[in-house]
Amino acid sequence: MQAMVYRGPYKVRVEEKEMPKIEHPNDAIVRVDLAAICGSDLHLYHGMMPDTRVGHTFGHEFIGEITEVGGSVERVRRGDRVMVPFHISCGSCYFCVRGLFTNCHNVNPNATAIGGIYGYSHSCGGYDGGQAQYVRVPFADVGPTVIPDWLEDEDALMLTDALGTGYFGAQLGDIVEGDTVVVFGAGPVGLFAAKSSWLMGAGRVIVVDHLDYRLEKARTFAQAETLNFVEVDDVVVHLKKLTEGLGADVAIDAVGAEADGNFTQHVTAAKLKLQGGSPVALNWAIDSVRKGGTVSVMGAYGPIFSAVKFGDAMNKGLTLRMNQAPVKRQWPRLFEHIRNGYLKPNEIVTHRIPLEHIAEAYHMFSAKLDGCIKPVIIPNAA
Ligand SMILES: NC(=O)c1ccc[n+]([C@@H]2O[C@H](COP(=O)([O-])OP(=O)(O)OC[C@H]3O[C@@H](n4cnc5c(N)ncnc54)[C@H](O)[C@@H]3O)[C@@H](O)[C@H]2O)c1
Ligand SMILES: [Zn+2]
Ligand SMILES: [Zn+2]
Repeated sequence: MQAMVYRGPYKVRVEEKEMPKIEHPNDAIVRVDLAAICGSDLHLYHGMMPDTRVGHTFGHEFIGEITEVGGSVERVRRGDRVMVPFHISCGSCYFCVRGLFTNCHNVNPNATAIGGIYGYSHSCGGYDGGQAQYVRVPFADVGPTVIPDWLEDEDALMLTDALGTGYFGAQLGDIVEGDTVVVFGAGPVGLFAAKSSWLMGAGRVIVVDHLDYRLEKARTFAQAETLNFVEVDDVVVHLKKLTEGLGADVAIDAVGAEADGNFTQHVTAAKLKLQGGSPVALNWAIDSVRKGGTVSVMGAYGPIFSAVKFGDAMNKGLTLRMNQAPVKRQWPRLFEHIRNGYLKPNEIVTHRIPLEHIAEAYHMFSAKLDGCIKPVIIPNAA
Protein backbone atom coordinates (compact mmCIF):
# COMPACT_ATOMS: atom_id res chain seq x y z
CA MET A 1 0.00 0.00 0.00
CA GLN A 2 0.96 3.66 -0.34
CA ALA A 3 1.69 5.62 2.82
CA MET A 4 3.13 8.96 3.88
CA VAL A 5 6.56 8.38 5.40
CA TYR A 6 8.75 10.68 7.53
CA ARG A 7 12.33 11.02 6.24
CA GLY A 8 13.62 13.67 8.69
CA PRO A 9 12.74 17.29 9.53
CA TYR A 10 10.84 19.01 6.70
CA LYS A 11 11.02 15.83 4.60
CA VAL A 12 8.10 13.55 3.97
CA ARG A 13 7.23 11.44 0.94
CA VAL A 14 4.93 8.67 -0.22
CA GLU A 15 6.37 5.17 -0.18
CA GLU A 16 5.20 1.63 -0.74
CA LYS A 17 4.75 0.03 2.70
CA GLU A 18 3.60 -3.38 3.85
CA MET A 19 -0.14 -3.72 4.38
CA PRO A 20 -0.98 -3.51 8.10
CA LYS A 21 -2.09 -6.81 9.62
CA ILE A 22 -4.25 -7.86 12.53
CA GLU A 23 -1.69 -8.18 15.35
CA HIS A 24 -4.11 -8.70 18.21
CA PRO A 25 -7.67 -10.08 18.33
CA ASN A 26 -8.94 -6.59 19.29
CA ASP A 27 -7.55 -4.97 16.11
CA ALA A 28 -9.33 -3.84 12.98
CA ILE A 29 -7.88 -2.78 9.64
CA VAL A 30 -9.40 0.38 8.13
CA ARG A 31 -9.19 1.46 4.49
CA VAL A 32 -8.72 5.19 4.85
CA ASP A 33 -11.11 7.29 2.77
CA LEU A 34 -10.17 10.70 4.17
CA ALA A 35 -7.31 11.81 6.38
CA ALA A 36 -6.24 15.28 7.48
CA ILE A 37 -3.05 17.06 8.46
CA CYS A 38 -3.19 18.62 11.95
CA GLY A 39 -1.19 21.48 13.44
CA SER A 40 0.22 18.78 15.73
CA ASP A 41 1.68 17.00 12.69
CA LEU A 42 3.67 20.16 12.03
CA HIS A 43 5.51 19.72 15.35
CA LEU A 44 6.58 16.27 14.07
CA TYR A 45 7.35 17.57 10.58
CA HIS A 46 9.57 20.28 12.08
CA GLY A 47 11.49 17.70 14.12
CA MET A 48 10.24 18.99 17.50
CA MET A 49 8.81 15.76 18.86
CA PRO A 50 11.27 13.38 20.55
CA ASP A 51 11.64 9.89 19.04
CA THR A 52 10.04 10.61 15.69
CA ARG A 53 11.60 7.82 13.66
CA VAL A 54 12.44 7.82 9.98
CA GLY A 55 9.93 5.54 8.28
CA HIS A 56 7.04 6.48 10.61
CA THR A 57 3.67 7.23 9.00
CA PHE A 58 1.83 10.23 10.48
CA GLY A 59 -1.90 10.87 10.56
CA HIS A 60 -4.24 10.87 13.55
CA GLU A 61 -7.35 12.28 11.86
CA PHE A 62 -9.00 9.76 9.54
CA ILE A 63 -12.24 8.03 8.59
CA GLY A 64 -12.75 4.97 6.42
CA GLU A 65 -14.17 1.50 5.98
CA ILE A 66 -13.35 -1.54 8.07
CA THR A 67 -11.90 -4.25 5.85
CA GLU A 68 -10.92 -6.81 8.50
CA VAL A 69 -11.49 -7.40 12.22
CA GLY A 70 -9.73 -9.54 14.80
CA GLY A 71 -11.44 -12.49 16.48
CA SER A 72 -12.62 -10.68 19.62
CA VAL A 73 -14.03 -7.51 18.02
CA GLU A 74 -17.78 -7.26 18.65
CA ARG A 75 -19.03 -3.71 18.13
CA VAL A 76 -17.88 -3.07 14.55
CA ARG A 77 -17.64 -5.34 11.53
CA ARG A 78 -16.25 -5.53 8.03
CA GLY A 79 -17.92 -2.99 5.75
CA ASP A 80 -18.72 -0.49 8.54
CA ARG A 81 -17.83 3.12 7.75
CA VAL A 82 -16.16 4.48 10.85
CA MET A 83 -14.72 7.64 12.35
CA VAL A 84 -11.72 6.99 14.57
CA PRO A 85 -10.70 9.35 17.42
CA PHE A 86 -7.07 10.42 17.32
CA HIS A 87 -6.33 8.81 20.68
CA ILE A 88 -5.83 5.08 21.12
CA SER A 89 -7.49 3.97 24.34
CA CYS A 90 -8.07 0.61 26.00
CA GLY A 91 -11.44 1.61 27.45
CA SER A 92 -10.95 -0.18 30.74
CA CYS A 93 -7.94 1.19 32.66
CA TYR A 94 -8.18 3.58 35.65
CA PHE A 95 -7.98 6.60 33.32
CA CYS A 96 -10.23 5.40 30.49
CA VAL A 97 -13.10 4.58 32.85
CA ARG A 98 -12.88 8.19 34.08
CA GLY A 99 -13.06 9.52 30.52
CA LEU A 100 -9.36 10.42 30.39
CA PHE A 101 -8.95 8.52 27.11
CA THR A 102 -5.83 10.42 26.08
CA ASN A 103 -4.11 9.36 29.31
CA CYS A 104 -4.82 5.64 28.82
CA HIS A 105 -2.40 3.53 30.84
CA ASN A 106 -2.27 0.50 28.55
CA VAL A 107 -1.31 1.79 25.14
CA ASN A 108 2.05 3.49 25.50
CA PRO A 109 4.93 1.77 27.26
CA ASN A 110 7.19 4.83 26.81
CA ALA A 111 5.35 7.45 28.79
CA THR A 112 3.65 8.05 32.08
CA ALA A 113 1.72 11.08 30.84
CA ILE A 114 0.25 10.68 27.38
CA GLY A 115 -1.41 7.52 26.07
CA GLY A 116 -1.31 6.41 22.45
CA ILE A 117 -1.88 8.59 19.40
CA TYR A 118 -1.95 7.34 15.81
CA GLY A 119 1.07 8.42 13.80
CA TYR A 120 2.55 10.53 16.56
CA SER A 121 6.06 9.15 17.08
CA HIS A 122 7.32 6.50 19.47
CA SER A 123 6.82 8.99 22.31
CA CYS A 124 3.11 8.35 21.78
CA GLY A 125 3.27 4.61 21.31
CA GLY A 126 4.83 4.26 17.85
CA TYR A 127 1.55 3.43 16.07
CA ASP A 128 1.56 4.09 12.33
CA GLY A 129 -1.05 6.66 11.37
CA GLY A 130 -3.80 7.17 8.84
CA GLN A 131 -2.09 9.24 6.13
CA ALA A 132 -1.97 5.96 4.25
CA GLN A 133 -4.28 3.71 2.26
CA TYR A 134 -4.77 1.37 5.23
CA VAL A 135 -4.19 1.60 8.97
CA ARG A 136 -4.28 -0.81 11.91
CA VAL A 137 -6.78 0.29 14.58
CA PRO A 138 -6.15 -1.31 18.01
CA PHE A 139 -8.99 -1.67 20.55
CA ALA A 140 -11.50 -1.55 17.70
CA ASP A 141 -14.42 -1.91 20.09
CA VAL A 142 -13.40 1.26 21.96
CA GLY A 143 -12.40 4.03 19.54
CA PRO A 144 -14.12 3.68 16.16
CA THR A 145 -17.75 4.75 15.85
CA VAL A 146 -19.98 3.98 12.87
CA ILE A 147 -20.59 7.25 10.98
CA PRO A 148 -24.31 8.12 11.25
CA ASP A 149 -26.15 8.34 7.90
CA TRP A 150 -26.86 12.05 8.26
CA LEU A 151 -23.21 13.00 8.93
CA GLU A 152 -21.09 13.98 5.94
CA ASP A 153 -17.63 12.47 5.59
CA GLU A 154 -15.62 15.68 5.98
CA ASP A 155 -17.66 16.66 9.03
CA ALA A 156 -16.96 13.25 10.58
CA LEU A 157 -13.28 13.75 9.81
CA MET A 158 -13.21 17.09 11.66
CA LEU A 159 -14.70 15.36 14.72
CA THR A 160 -11.75 12.94 14.98
CA ASP A 161 -9.59 15.76 16.36
CA ALA A 162 -9.79 19.46 15.43
CA LEU A 163 -13.47 20.05 16.25
CA GLY A 164 -13.51 17.84 19.35
CA THR A 165 -10.36 19.58 20.55
CA GLY A 166 -11.65 23.11 19.96
CA TYR A 167 -14.88 22.25 21.78
CA PHE A 168 -12.94 20.67 24.66
CA GLY A 169 -10.82 23.84 24.84
CA ALA A 170 -13.96 25.91 25.33
CA GLN A 171 -15.30 23.41 27.89
CA LEU A 172 -12.12 23.61 29.95
CA GLY A 173 -12.51 27.40 29.97
CA ASP A 174 -15.52 26.95 32.31
CA ILE A 175 -17.25 29.76 30.42
CA VAL A 176 -20.25 31.29 32.14
CA GLU A 177 -23.00 33.40 30.58
CA GLY A 178 -21.65 36.66 29.21
CA ASP A 179 -17.95 35.87 29.60
CA THR A 180 -15.33 37.43 27.36
CA VAL A 181 -13.18 34.71 25.79
CA VAL A 182 -9.87 35.37 24.05
CA VAL A 183 -8.63 32.63 21.74
CA PHE A 184 -4.97 32.65 20.73
CA GLY A 185 -4.48 31.00 17.33
CA ALA A 186 -6.83 31.00 14.35
CA GLY A 187 -5.91 27.56 13.05
CA PRO A 188 -8.50 24.78 12.99
CA VAL A 189 -8.36 24.27 16.78
CA GLY A 190 -8.69 27.99 17.55
CA LEU A 191 -11.50 28.48 15.03
CA PHE A 192 -13.48 25.60 16.51
CA ALA A 193 -12.74 26.79 20.06
CA ALA A 194 -14.03 30.26 19.18
CA LYS A 195 -17.19 28.88 17.56
CA SER A 196 -17.77 26.54 20.51
CA SER A 197 -17.35 29.35 23.06
CA TRP A 198 -20.68 30.83 21.94
CA LEU A 199 -22.32 27.47 22.65
CA MET A 200 -21.13 27.71 26.24
CA GLY A 201 -22.61 31.17 26.74
CA ALA A 202 -19.77 33.55 25.85
CA GLY A 203 -20.83 37.16 25.49
CA ARG A 204 -17.79 38.16 23.50
CA VAL A 205 -15.15 36.18 21.59
CA ILE A 206 -11.85 37.70 20.42
CA VAL A 207 -9.42 35.71 18.24
CA VAL A 208 -5.73 36.64 18.05
CA ASP A 209 -3.31 35.58 15.26
CA HIS A 210 -0.98 37.27 12.78
CA LEU A 211 -2.34 35.68 9.61
CA ASP A 212 -5.01 37.95 8.16
CA TYR A 213 -6.60 35.24 6.02
CA ARG A 214 -7.18 33.12 9.13
CA LEU A 215 -8.52 36.10 11.10
CA GLU A 216 -10.95 36.69 8.25
CA LYS A 217 -12.15 33.09 8.76
CA ALA A 218 -12.49 33.76 12.50
CA ARG A 219 -14.86 36.61 11.64
CA THR A 220 -16.95 34.75 9.06
CA PHE A 221 -16.93 31.21 10.49
CA ALA A 222 -16.80 31.92 14.23
CA GLN A 223 -18.41 35.41 14.31
CA ALA A 224 -15.48 36.58 16.44
CA GLU A 225 -13.79 39.94 16.86
CA THR A 226 -10.18 39.68 15.73
CA LEU A 227 -6.80 41.09 16.60
CA ASN A 228 -3.64 40.85 14.50
CA PHE A 229 -0.84 40.82 17.06
CA VAL A 230 1.76 42.38 14.76
CA GLU A 231 -0.46 45.42 14.27
CA VAL A 232 -0.33 46.43 17.94
CA ASP A 233 2.63 47.38 20.14
CA ASP A 234 1.68 45.13 22.99
CA VAL A 235 -1.02 42.53 22.53
CA VAL A 236 -1.68 42.19 26.29
CA VAL A 237 -2.11 45.94 26.82
CA HIS A 238 -4.39 46.07 23.80
CA LEU A 239 -6.54 43.22 25.10
CA LYS A 240 -6.77 44.93 28.50
CA LYS A 241 -7.99 48.09 26.77
CA LEU A 242 -10.67 46.03 25.02
CA THR A 243 -11.84 44.57 28.35
CA GLU A 244 -12.25 47.64 30.59
CA GLY A 245 -8.75 47.27 31.96
CA LEU A 246 -9.50 44.04 33.77
CA GLY A 247 -8.69 41.39 31.20
CA ALA A 248 -10.73 38.60 29.63
CA ASP A 249 -12.56 36.05 31.77
CA VAL A 250 -11.19 33.12 29.84
CA ALA A 251 -8.23 32.63 27.50
CA ILE A 252 -7.67 29.62 25.28
CA ASP A 253 -4.20 28.76 23.96
CA ALA A 254 -4.73 27.14 20.54
CA VAL A 255 -1.17 27.79 19.37
CA GLY A 256 1.25 25.58 21.27
CA ALA A 257 4.93 24.83 21.00
CA GLU A 258 5.87 26.87 17.94
CA ALA A 259 4.29 30.18 18.87
CA ASP A 260 5.60 33.31 17.16
CA GLY A 261 5.55 36.83 18.55
CA ASN A 262 8.73 36.77 20.61
CA PHE A 263 11.97 36.13 18.75
CA THR A 264 13.98 34.78 21.72
CA GLN A 265 11.28 32.40 22.85
CA HIS A 266 10.63 31.18 19.32
CA VAL A 267 14.30 30.55 18.58
CA THR A 268 15.15 28.88 21.90
CA ALA A 269 12.12 26.62 21.61
CA ALA A 270 11.44 25.89 17.96
CA LYS A 271 14.99 26.16 16.59
CA LEU A 272 17.43 25.36 19.42
CA LYS A 273 15.00 23.09 21.28
CA LEU A 274 16.11 24.36 24.69
CA GLN A 275 12.49 24.54 25.78
CA GLY A 276 9.60 22.08 25.45
CA GLY A 277 7.81 24.76 23.47
CA SER A 278 7.71 28.48 22.86
CA PRO A 279 5.47 29.81 25.66
CA VAL A 280 4.57 33.09 23.90
CA ALA A 281 0.87 32.43 23.42
CA LEU A 282 0.55 30.75 26.81
CA ASN A 283 2.18 33.72 28.55
CA TRP A 284 -0.04 36.12 26.63
CA ALA A 285 -3.02 34.06 27.81
CA ILE A 286 -1.83 34.25 31.44
CA ASP A 287 -1.23 38.00 31.16
CA SER A 288 -4.42 38.93 29.34
CA VAL A 289 -6.90 37.04 31.46
CA ARG A 290 -8.30 38.87 34.52
CA LYS A 291 -7.39 37.94 38.10
CA GLY A 292 -9.26 34.78 39.04
CA GLY A 293 -9.79 33.88 35.37
CA THR A 294 -9.24 30.61 33.56
CA VAL A 295 -6.62 29.62 30.98
CA SER A 296 -7.39 26.56 28.87
CA VAL A 297 -4.41 25.09 27.05
CA MET A 298 -5.07 23.08 23.88
CA GLY A 299 -1.76 24.01 22.20
CA ALA A 300 0.68 21.11 22.48
CA TYR A 301 3.99 21.35 24.37
CA GLY A 302 6.84 18.88 24.72
CA PRO A 303 7.82 17.23 27.99
CA ILE A 304 10.73 19.48 28.97
CA PHE A 305 10.66 22.87 30.68
CA SER A 306 9.18 26.00 29.04
CA ALA A 307 9.58 29.52 30.45
CA VAL A 308 5.95 29.85 31.49
CA LYS A 309 4.96 32.75 33.77
CA PHE A 310 3.89 30.46 36.53
CA GLY A 311 4.34 32.99 39.33
CA ASP A 312 2.02 35.43 37.62
CA ALA A 313 -0.56 32.69 37.15
CA MET A 314 -0.26 31.80 40.83
CA ASN A 315 -0.45 35.35 42.14
CA LYS A 316 -3.42 36.18 39.92
CA GLY A 317 -5.32 33.18 41.23
CA LEU A 318 -5.80 31.69 37.80
CA THR A 319 -7.18 28.29 37.01
CA LEU A 320 -5.07 26.49 34.41
CA ARG A 321 -6.70 23.55 32.64
CA MET A 322 -5.28 21.41 29.86
CA ASN A 323 -4.95 17.99 28.27
CA GLN A 324 -4.79 16.21 24.98
CA ALA A 325 -8.47 16.20 24.12
CA PRO A 326 -10.41 12.99 24.78
CA VAL A 327 -12.46 13.84 21.69
CA LYS A 328 -14.75 10.85 21.70
CA ARG A 329 -16.30 12.21 24.89
CA GLN A 330 -17.42 15.31 22.99
CA TRP A 331 -19.09 13.49 20.10
CA PRO A 332 -22.68 13.11 21.44
CA ARG A 333 -23.06 16.88 22.01
CA LEU A 334 -21.27 17.78 18.81
CA PHE A 335 -23.51 15.41 16.83
CA GLU A 336 -26.47 17.47 18.12
CA HIS A 337 -24.89 20.79 17.16
CA ILE A 338 -24.07 19.55 13.66
CA ARG A 339 -27.46 17.99 13.20
CA ASN A 340 -29.31 21.13 14.27
CA GLY A 341 -27.28 23.14 11.78
CA TYR A 342 -25.33 25.31 14.20
CA LEU A 343 -22.02 23.81 13.16
CA LYS A 344 -20.80 22.94 9.68
CA PRO A 345 -17.30 21.68 10.45
CA ASN A 346 -16.05 21.27 6.90
CA GLU A 347 -16.38 25.02 6.28
CA ILE A 348 -12.77 25.28 7.46
CA VAL A 349 -11.45 22.76 4.91
CA THR A 350 -9.49 24.64 2.28
CA HIS A 351 -7.68 21.91 0.31
CA ARG A 352 -8.40 18.36 -0.84
CA ILE A 353 -5.24 16.62 -1.98
CA PRO A 354 -4.46 13.06 -3.21
CA LEU A 355 -2.00 11.14 -1.01
CA GLU A 356 0.64 11.18 -3.75
CA HIS A 357 0.96 14.97 -3.31
CA ILE A 358 1.19 14.91 0.49
CA ALA A 359 4.71 16.41 0.54
CA GLU A 360 3.33 19.55 -1.14
CA ALA A 361 0.42 19.55 1.29
CA TYR A 362 2.79 19.52 4.30
CA HIS A 363 4.85 22.32 2.83
CA MET A 364 1.80 24.44 2.08
CA PHE A 365 0.21 23.92 5.52
CA SER A 366 3.50 24.46 7.33
CA ALA A 367 4.38 27.65 5.43
CA LYS A 368 0.73 28.80 5.56
CA LEU A 369 0.57 29.25 1.77
CA ASP A 370 -2.42 29.54 -0.56
CA GLY A 371 -4.85 30.45 2.22
CA CYS A 372 -4.41 27.02 3.77
CA ILE A 373 -6.40 26.35 6.94
CA LYS A 374 -7.19 22.61 6.86
CA PRO A 375 -5.83 20.25 4.20
CA VAL A 376 -7.69 16.97 3.67
CA ILE A 377 -5.82 14.02 2.16
CA ILE A 378 -7.48 11.46 -0.10
CA PRO A 379 -5.47 8.23 0.14
CA ASN A 380 -7.47 6.06 -2.23
CA ALA A 381 -8.30 8.58 -4.96
CA ALA A 382 -9.41 6.69 -8.07
N1 LIG B 1 -4.81 19.24 23.01
C1 LIG B 1 -5.07 18.49 21.95
O1 LIG B 1 -5.67 17.42 22.04
C2 LIG B 1 -4.68 18.96 20.59
C3 LIG B 1 -5.32 18.45 19.46
C4 LIG B 1 -5.04 19.02 18.22
C5 LIG B 1 -4.10 20.02 18.12
N2 LIG B 1 -3.47 20.44 19.23
C6 LIG B 1 -2.49 21.54 19.20
O2 LIG B 1 -3.20 22.75 19.01
C7 LIG B 1 -2.35 23.70 18.36
C8 LIG B 1 -3.08 24.31 17.18
O3 LIG B 1 -3.40 23.32 16.21
P1 LIG B 1 -3.92 23.78 14.76
O4 LIG B 1 -4.22 22.55 13.97
O5 LIG B 1 -5.00 24.81 14.89
O6 LIG B 1 -2.55 24.44 14.21
P2 LIG B 1 -2.14 25.58 13.17
O7 LIG B 1 -0.66 25.52 13.05
O8 LIG B 1 -2.95 25.48 11.92
O9 LIG B 1 -2.57 26.95 13.91
C9 LIG B 1 -1.79 27.63 14.84
C10 LIG B 1 -2.07 29.12 14.64
O10 LIG B 1 -1.41 29.88 15.68
C11 LIG B 1 -0.95 31.11 15.12
N3 LIG B 1 0.04 31.71 16.04
C12 LIG B 1 1.39 31.54 16.09
N4 LIG B 1 1.90 32.23 17.13
C13 LIG B 1 0.85 32.87 17.74
C14 LIG B 1 0.74 33.71 18.88
N5 LIG B 1 1.80 34.05 19.62
N6 LIG B 1 -0.50 34.17 19.21
C15 LIG B 1 -1.60 33.83 18.49
N7 LIG B 1 -1.56 33.02 17.39
C16 LIG B 1 -0.33 32.54 17.04
C17 LIG B 1 -0.44 30.67 13.77
O11 LIG B 1 -0.29 31.76 12.89
C18 LIG B 1 -1.51 29.68 13.33
O12 LIG B 1 -2.56 30.30 12.62
C19 LIG B 1 -1.08 22.93 18.01
O13 LIG B 1 -0.11 23.12 19.02
C20 LIG B 1 -1.51 21.49 18.05
O14 LIG B 1 -0.45 20.61 18.34
C21 LIG B 1 -3.74 19.94 20.46
ZN1 LIG C 1 -4.17 16.70 16.03
ZN1 LIG D 1 -7.06 2.84 29.05
